[in-house]
Amino acid sequence: MPIKKLPDDSGATLTVVDLDGYYLPTFYELEDHEEQMRSLPKWKARDDDVMICTYPKSGTHWLWEIVSMLVQKKAERIKTVKETAMLEIMVEEAYDNLPSPRVLNSHVYFEYLPQDFAKRKCKIVYAMRNPKDVAVSFFNHHSKIIEYDFSGKWEDYVSRFVKGDVDYGTWFEYTLKWEKFMADNPDYPIIATTFEDMKEDALREVTRIAKFLEVDCDQAFLQEVTDLCHFDKMKKEKNALEEQVDGWKDGTPGMYRKGDVGDWKNWFTVAQSENFDTVYREKMKGSKVQPRFTLR
Ligand code: A3P
Repeated sequence: MPIKKLPDDSGATLTVVDLDGYYLPTFYELEDHEEQMRSLPKWKARDDDVMICTYPKSGTHWLWEIVSMLVQKKAERIKTVKETAMLEIMVEEAYDNLPSPRVLNSHVYFEYLPQDFAKRKCKIVYAMRNPKDVAVSFFNHHSKIIEYDFSGKWEDYVSRFVKGDVDYGTWFEYTLKWEKFMADNPDYPIIATTFEDMKEDALREVTRIAKFLEVDCDQAFLQEVTDLCHFDKMKKEKNALEEQVDGWKDGTPGMYRKGDVGDWKNWFTVAQSENFDTVYREKMKGSKVQPRFTLR
């Protein structure tokens, strides 16, 4: 697959692969990455598959852990990482060998996902996070994971993020596509949540998701799942597993960084924030999406 080094205004580059203009992480460990990606829409789904769809850095690990516990009906730490069920880094054989019920996850657009999935109306859990916190989280992700070979500065990063010179393209396009999908397919079984809603009241969101997935359980179970998936507990208990998946620059995994709403205020200058707001209004004109940039 063609490797591309995307430069920012200062010339610092971020390494991705270019699939006909759609950028993906390099995932060097996959031998036939291009072939796998091109065949992905033809993979077979199962009726009880659940798919978590998010733009990167929107709380996918958190949701995957929650949904995995819910479908297994066990409030027990999941012994693998969500990357083992992430479509764009899997080979078809591994995908076919995952035991049911599968909790899959992906950041790619709906059109790249298995078409069989839509045909069977497999359930989707979709989550959004406010794009300023996503930008900060993505910057830290790009800075720490070796294969991006990225050492750009935050001051140049916001324009990179806005332009979509990152893996998976822009937050705006991703979010607008999902908004359209939900409007065009009102009968599709999809539940939408947000990182901010989960931070505001995790038990409430876990309860909603359990109901959507038709998990027969009591309140104590839902509380246990919520507690096990608290940021501090996950960071402590899942970091070691994450270390085996991505190569981290200083040897310490950074997947569980801060887990807050509003950390962007520690990163964006006033000018950056105002510019971002202007771009946001332009790009999201006509959209009903309303991210919460702060909880208070
Ligand atoms: P920060 O970098 O802002 O801390 P993803 O899983 O989609 O890659 O998203 C990663 C973001 O979710 C990171 O955000 C990470 O810290 C946060 N996160 C992961 N697990 C979490 C949890 N249990 N509770 C709250 N935030 C969590």
